[in-house]
Amino acid sequence: MTITKTLERARAVADGLRARGVAMPDVALVLGSGLGAFAEQLEAAQRIDYGELEGLPTSAVPGHAGCFTVGRLGGVTVLCQSGRVHLYEGWSPHDVTVAVRAIAQLGCRALVLTNAAGGLRPEWEPGTLMRIEDHLNLQGTTPLERTEAGVGSPWSQELGTELDVVAAELGVPLRRGVYAALPGPSYETPAEVRALAGFGADAVGMSTALEALAASAAGMQVCGISCITNHAAGITDAALNHAEVVEVGRRTAGLFARLLSNALPRLARV
Ligand code: HPA
Repeated sequence: MTITKTLERARAVADGLRARGVAMPDVALVLGSGLGAFAEQLEAAQRIDYGELEGLPTSAVPGHAGCFTVGRLGGVTVLCQSGRVHLYEGWSPHDVTVAVRAIAQLGCRALVLTNAAGGLRPEWEPGTLMRIEDHLNLQGTTPLERTEAGVGSPWSQELGTELDVVAAELGVPLRRGVYAALPGPSYETPAEVRALAGFGADAVGMSTALEALAASAAGMQVCGISCITNHAAGITDAALNHAEVVEVGRRTAGLFARLLSNALPRLARV
């Protein structure tokens, strides 16, 4: 698929959102596995299911609801995307990024990407929050065309610093690290996890990097938070499963919501 076709699809999604009364959000948020409940924090909220919009792929993975919620929080307009699609479901890099392209087309300038991830640091217990400083795109693909490809990292230093400051003010522990994006769907082997640690990764997951690249190319500032739901394979003896990932996400939801509800109005003003 060409970038022109992807941008047309993103325009159809943005038009659909506008037709349902969504104007320019001040800040947007992509909610990862088990983190979808944050959208309930929004006041005067309006929910738009993916099925109502043309141009979007729809997901069947448990924990990925598949809707946008727009509402007010701390004096700003926030757009949440709950339920992303993944490469491992058979979607293309363009499918995976059409929603963030649509958000950019609404005129939104700041994006927060969130996900569930495995932790590579033994001292990071499940439930740890990690601010994504940078990523390793090991998915073997990109949503960008040569003409749009940026230079360096898509992760905004400015938004990242703002998240750090808000976390420190609230006393919410927020680690910093590098997110390694793998294609999935299988979790890593212990040998792969050791290799990733050698590459400089602190967390591993199956999403987010392509969205960061596309959003940055589309002109948005991007920051992100990983909820470390488990130790990555081989870091401890515990076995991994998707239900546990979703459950730890739910347990961490309170802390996550406190950080984001305080940070979003400030990120909107950077
Ligand atoms: N590996 C990959 N993706 C993940 C993990 C993991 O350990 N935990 C949550 N998402």
